[in-house]
Amino acid sequence: MESYPEKVEAALAWLKERVPDRPLAAIVLGSGLGSLAERLEDPMPIPFGEIPHWPVSTAPGHAARLVFGRLAGRRVVVQQGRVHYYEGFSMREVTFSARVYGAWKIPYYIPTNASGGIHHGLRTGDIVLVHDHINLLGTNPLIGPNREEWGPRFPDLVSAYDPELQLLAEEAARENGILLKRGTYVAFTGPSFETPAEIRMARTLGADLVGMSTVPEVIVARHMGMRVCALSCVANPAAGMTGQSLTHQEVLDEMEKSSASLLRLVEGLIRKLEEDRA
Ligand code: HPA
Repeated sequence: MESYPEKVEAALAWLKERVPDRPLAAIVLGSGLGSLAERLEDPMPIPFGEIPHWPVSTAPGHAARLVFGRLAGRRVVVQQGRVHYYEGFSMREVTFSARVYGAWKIPYYIPTNASGGIHHGLRTGDIVLVHDHINLLGTNPLIGPNREEWGPRFPDLVSAYDPELQLLAEEAARENGILLKRGTYVAFTGPSFETPAEIRMARTLGADLVGMSTVPEVIVARHMGMRVCALSCVANPAAGMTGQSLTHQEVLDEMEKSSASLLRLVEGLIRKLEEDRA
């Protein structure tokens, strides 16, 4: 049986054989946001199922593939779909892809997600730059022996959401006429949506957005030294904020409507990354 680091190395070696050039950024597309992959030039799709040890999602609204290609002239890998803790995957499986990108030394990690809006100032369709998080998953992907080659035992999360990338994202938003709000994301495990009492609690704790992803992979991305810029799209008011009940279909429908501006923003940000690097 291969160890976890061996599995990460095997997946990476398999990818490098097919894609010799390291991407500048790994972009993870959340529920209903898959259409960015269609904007890539010279796209090269690879189904997750073909990559050794890569976990395959069961959630509706998620394609299950990597697409390598160029966006704004820069080499990127777009991950369409992710696996979630609520599907029964372990934290290590949930963060497998982030480990592979980190081991490849991809400099930038850009997760996107759909969220519920907790802050009263947020509206369905708003795009939010995540500037901090609260981990209410009850676990942490770094629990277990630490692999020093990957990162420190006690990684710092003070600037987990890279301040410089936040400025670039805000600049890209301004240039594209996109209103970009800022907020703190709280992760619950799901798969049930939250109760109204849980949402009131989360608001009291300082959360603006709620979702069921992103936090574990950001912790791992930071552990491996990638620079993170996370973007969220508000799919619904969080539980109890309207008289309505919540459905996954509503989330997908809203993402469909908002995906165009989120994707323009991601493209604008990617365009700035090489400038940032040059
Ligand atoms: N709660 C949790 N996750 C979500 C929500 C929500 O209201 N909307 C989209 N993802």
